Amino acid sequence: MSADRVVALPGDGGRPLAVLVLAAGLGTRMRSATAKVLHRLGDRPLIAYVLDAARKLSPDRLIVIVGHQAEEVEAACKSHGDCGRICFVHQAEQRGTGHAVRCAAPELAGFGGDVLIIYGDVPTLRAETLASFVQGHAKSGAALSLLTACFRDPTGYGRIVRGTSGEIERIVEERDATPDEEQIQEINAGIYCVAAELLLEAVGSIATDNAQGEYYLTDIVSVARRQGSRLWSCGIEDPAEVRGINTRAELAGMEARMRKSIVEKWMAAGVTFEDPATVYVGADVKIGRDTTIGPNTHLRGATVIGEGCRIDGSAYIEGARLGARVHLKFGVVITDSTIGNDVQMGPFAHLRPGTDLARGVHIGNFVEAKKAKLGPGTKANHLSYLGDVTVGENTNIGAGTITCNYDGFRKHPTVIGDRVQIGSDTQLVAPVEVGSDAYVGAGTTVTHAVPPGALAVSRTPQRNIEGWVARRRVRESGDGAAKAAAGASDKLPRSPAKTRARQRLRVVGRSKRRRLVGGPAQEPASKAAPRRKRTQRGVARVRVARPASSRRPTRR
Ligand code: UD1
Ligand code: CA
Repeated sequence: MSADRVVALPGDGGRPLAVLVLAAGLGTRMRSATAKVLHRLGDRPLIAYVLDAARKLSPDRLIVIVGHQAEEVEAACKSHGDCGRICFVHQAEQRGTGHAVRCAAPELAGFGGDVLIIYGDVPTLRAETLASFVQGHAKSGAALSLLTACFRDPTGYGRIVRGTSGEIERIVEERDATPDEEQIQEINAGIYCVAAELLLEAVGSIATDNAQGEYYLTDIVSVARRQGSRLWSCGIEDPAEVRGINTRAELAGMEARMRKSIVEKWMAAGVTFEDPATVYVGADVKIGRDTTIGPNTHLRGATVIGEGCRIDGSAYIEGARLGARVHLKFGVVITDSTIGNDVQMGPFAHLRPGTDLARGVHIGNFVEAKKAKLGPGTKANHLSYLGDVTVGENTNIGAGTITCNYDGFRKHPTVIGDRVQIGSDTQLVAPVEVGSDAYVGAGTTVTHAVPPGALAVSRTPQRNIEGWVARRRVRESGDGAAKAAAGASDKLPRSPAKTRARQRLRVVGRSKRRRLVGGPAQEPASKAAPRRKRTQRGVARVRVARPASSRRPTRR
């Protein structure tokens, strides 16, 4: 027997133990195309809970019977905990729980120990309960032991039929029960411990003469009795533990109970929930003490929240790791990301997978980050998309900055150094680098590397066209009075810019004509003149600093 059992068993050094988990059924009552054991409870498939409990016993053999959606069920078993020792047995056709155990016969042939059988749809079953049941079985010297429970409403369960002296006679399924038997409140929890030899013999001799035409595993009880084998049963302390999931309503009920108990566990560990009823905390989540969690917060997957954090509310956090004193303002979504100590985020911000925020980072409203690594103290406070980017420390990403990381075929990286000022409305066309201490002017489209300490600016010079609005209003109004107000003539006054444009067209026309007819090759004097005139009058010139990179070679 293994020495690393979480739960001690008296059988250690004695009879070996095999655990058999039945998970092949579709779960007809779920009315689903998905196998029942794959339905999720507290963020994990049902089968994961049962396997966890089974593994804690460190059995010599762990056998899972799969059938419906076998591949998916196997994958779910493998992705939840160590699966190295699981042996999967295929039950191609689901002909009942007894038939499922029959399918495992080749695996159990020659196994001289006890077999603990559990069903895959009993997620709240604890390893400790299983261990004490196996202990009781060993002590009793029985060949077959049953775990039973008493339910005020036993609907749906197999009933334990006892003889006048209290000995177990058989188990009757609800569909096969007489009205009197239906009144029995002691039910079969579906957890059995059986000597392997007896089990193989008994499942070999059961038939399908019942309401469902199935091989019922429960029939091994009558077989064992007929053979004169010793039976033992044990009533469970907390019957809720062996509640099976057969319908969506039962799943939802259990989800609510589990959610409540998880939240209570974290409250007892020093976490404040402002409205526990609206918070969802998954079974694998960990929360540091003195953290406060606001309403409508979802913490899912393997999320870890540090100490002294504050989550204002309406947050969806999955697979994230938050340091200490992190403040998530209202409305954030975080998936598979890491957040350092003292980070502030939101309201309304979104971290997609692969994002890593170092200590003291600020992420503000309407900022989306994906595979973004932001150094300590860096801030992106407003309206940005930061994808496939690495940013150094104490850099400021201005409002509306976009990393253009996708060219329609592949994603490209952006690298920004330390203490950089990225001006508002900057587009960084990746792959591109901005060196430390550089500035990027507002509205710049950065298409090539910005050297450290440089200023990068790319802007179209600004033009101011005076009086344009008034003329436009007149044109659009189509109203005689307005036209009259703009000038007595019925004809609209032409804008100086329009006049110049017409002149230019005339000039171009003339020179083209000249070229066509083989006129003089020199430029007409009139072509340059109107341009000079234009800069002097209608158009105010804006001085634009030349980007430093255009003067100096790029340093790497
Ligand atoms: C079963 C018991 C019932 C007990 C109840 C406890 C039988 C006949 N009845 O009823 O006495 O009170 O559990 O929860 O055993 N499975 C297979 N292959 C199959 C059929 C089922 O692997 O061919 C698996 C299912 O995936 C499931 C488990 O066995 O995990 C139980 O099957 P289910 O149909 O839920 O049995 P119940 O009707 O609940
Ligand atoms: Ca069931």
